Amino acid sequence: MTTEVDLPAFPMTRTCPYHPPQGYAGLREQGAFAKVRLLGDREAWVVTDHAVARALLVDPRLSSDRLRPDFPVLVPRMSAAKLVPLVGMDPPVHTQRRRMLIPAFTVRRTEALRPDIERVVTDRLDAVVREGPPADLVPGFALPVPSTVICRLLGVPYADHEFFETQTQRMVLGSSSAGEAAAASVALTDYVDALIGEKQADPGEGLLDELIASHLATGEITRRELAETIMFLLVAGHETTANMITMSVIALLDNPAQLARLRADWRLLPGAVDELLRFLSVADEIQRVVAEPIEIAGRTLQPGDAVYLPASAANRDPAVFPDPDALDVTRRARQHLGFGYGIHQCLGQNLARVEVEVSLRGLFTRLPTLALAEPLSGLPVKPGGSVQGVYRLPVTW
Ligand code: HEM
Repeated sequence: MTTEVDLPAFPMTRTCPYHPPQGYAGLREQGAFAKVRLLGDREAWVVTDHAVARALLVDPRLSSDRLRPDFPVLVPRMSAAKLVPLVGMDPPVHTQRRRMLIPAFTVRRTEALRPDIERVVTDRLDAVVREGPPADLVPGFALPVPSTVICRLLGVPYADHEFFETQTQRMVLGSSSAGEAAAASVALTDYVDALIGEKQADPGEGLLDELIASHLATGEITRRELAETIMFLLVAGHETTANMITMSVIALLDNPAQLARLRADWRLLPGAVDELLRFLSVADEIQRVVAEPIEIAGRTLQPGDAVYLPASAANRDPAVFPDPDALDVTRRARQHLGFGYGIHQCLGQNLARVEVEVSLRGLFTRLPTLALAEPLSGLPVKPGGSVQGVYRLPVTW
């Protein structure tokens, strides 16, 4: 890449929590690719075109390997994350790890959890109603629902939720320092490692117990590798979904005509969840590094080039999603990149869909007069380089 002086800095932070950063419009004007400047003055490509993003996400010449010295660093916390299981790995190790986990995340397995998820949602809503109005739905609802669910699935005690939620924030927030993120990642892995020891002595129920009995017992994976993998599932399993539930509530309250359509016909819900995944793009910064030259859309990407494929850019591509800045719960949005695409496409997407569906239907049915208790413009948004969301969701009813 040639050096250019006036490149926009990346990542950019959103002003409205549910719209992409304002600077993305200028990037899109430049065509499928735009050049930006990262931390440490490094340049990177940002892909704004849906078709090009999809083509790149299935191209094996792009690497996800965070252990590569040329892997880009978007925010300081990422310089600490030298080992990121699954999403930060390339085949063949990625293939082996993912294959081990797939059976636990099929549509059938996750649909079987639906009644349990409904009970979790009902219990949380009971508590919200007991204690409010007003209420902050982040700690009261959007966070504990996916935290409880992922704990049960993995076999991790929910009693430890304050510890792992706090450490997760330190690990994933764009504002964390490298030291904070590194310490949090080690603390979480050590925590799961200790849990493996306890479970070996006294087996329980859950995916972790199953993997101890199968893959750890046969030596297919080491204890530390298993701890890292489960740590990642624990983090990915609650943080993204909590932001997705929070932001879905905000987007629907802020688009009352769309909420009314949904309330009038809950059969629209599965499609509406896809549209919300498109519209909100909470897991925004999908990142790769070029391993071998790639010619695409009139560009040649060179080895070592950093490539960002923000979900919110591809998901607002007007060539694929007409009137992309409008939330439309009847839109056919299934080809969105809200869960990524290709070999790293979200492993937990079936589970996340069920959690978001059950949470939204439960909440809006139980509290028909739900409203934001503060103006949306007053809610600080999480910085670029984080899963996108807000820290608080003050509501009344
Ligand atoms: C609405 C909630 C969620 C969203 C928006 C989301 C989004 C994403 C995205 C965009 C990726 C791809 C990243 C990339 O290609 O670089 C991804 C990967 C992943 N997600 Fe999710 N996710 C959600 C919920 C979950 C849940 C509940 C789990 C459960 C454990 C989970 C586990 C994973 C895993 C393990 C990967 C890595 C897969 C791989 O590399 O093979 N996610 N997610």
